[in-house]
Amino acid sequence: MSNEEIDEDEINPFTMLLTDDQDHTLNSVTTVHEGTPNQQDHHHLRSIQSTVVIRQLPSEGLSFQLWPAATALVSLLDLHRLNPSQSPLSATLSAARATANDRPLKILELGSGTGIVGIVAAATLGGDVTITDLPHVVPNLQFNADANKEVVGSTGGAVKVASLRWGHADDVAKIGREFDIILASDVVYHDHLYDPLLETLRLMTLVSDDGKERKKMVFVMAHLRRWKKESSFFKKAKKLFEVDVLHTDSPCEGSRVGVIIYRFVGKV
Ligand SMILES: C[S@@+](CC[C@H](N)C(=O)[O-])C[C@H]1O[C@@H](n2cnc3c(N)ncnc32)[C@H](O)[C@@H]1O
Repeated sequence: MSNEEIDEDEINPFTMLLTDDQDHTLNSVTTVHEGTPNQQDHHHLRSIQSTVVIRQLPSEGLSFQLWPAATALVSLLDLHRLNPSQSPLSATLSAARATANDRPLKILELGSGTGIVGIVAAATLGGDVTITDLPHVVPNLQFNADANKEVVGSTGGAVKVASLRWGHADDVAKIGREFDIILASDVVYHDHLYDPLLETLRLMTLVSDDGKERKKMVFVMAHLRRWKKESSFFKKAKKLFEVDVLHTDSPCEGSRVGVIIYRFVGKV
């Protein structure tokens, strides 16, 4: 069966959440904290010989859980630091570093959920990362950023937390547009969110406050395809961006498709 033939009712994002037996580097412990069951995932990063600890609150909803594309991007970031010459992220990150000119990379993550991708990006790239999500998700993002401050700081990285609602120009104005790279994982799922997400990307990467030409900001997105309707997101995205595939993961057990890492660069 091809990707195009996957039926929307056949795959449910909740049944495709990564559990600890799908990734041997992830160890989870579930406890009850202040009445809410929470799960602490210990994710070992070989490249920096350190462990990132992420709190999930599964009963609070999908924003508080670790999604498969996040884990795939985390593994690639770790591999990139271990062996940049073999990394599918190399060309993109080298170009961004050339633009950054010796200062730490400034990275924005959209729809961060638990924050693991941004936290690991800060730790492995020594980047200055802003992790963002809807306002009600921010406290857990802050908790995870605080819990990993030492690991992130050990490589010169830093993590800030902010609320950023897709489609809200005022949120983009508050956060600013001075980023080298935008990251996201598993942010294409509900079709009513396609336009707001693309609008935030447009405002971030293609719009200039002063009418001058903007520097090319790259969007790197890890995505696990579940539904046929997602092709409409990519169709719309391709009107604004050149979209390339940087990497395709092999499918994990029980799945027909693997996580794909895309790169979006604005068309001028
Ligand atoms: C499927 S989860 C993925 C979370 C995380 N990136 C991961 O891969 O584990 C999608 C994330 O997008 C966020 N999100 C959904 N709608 C949003 C919006 N309108 N503005 C900002 N974030 C949004 C959700 O709160 C959630 O954290």
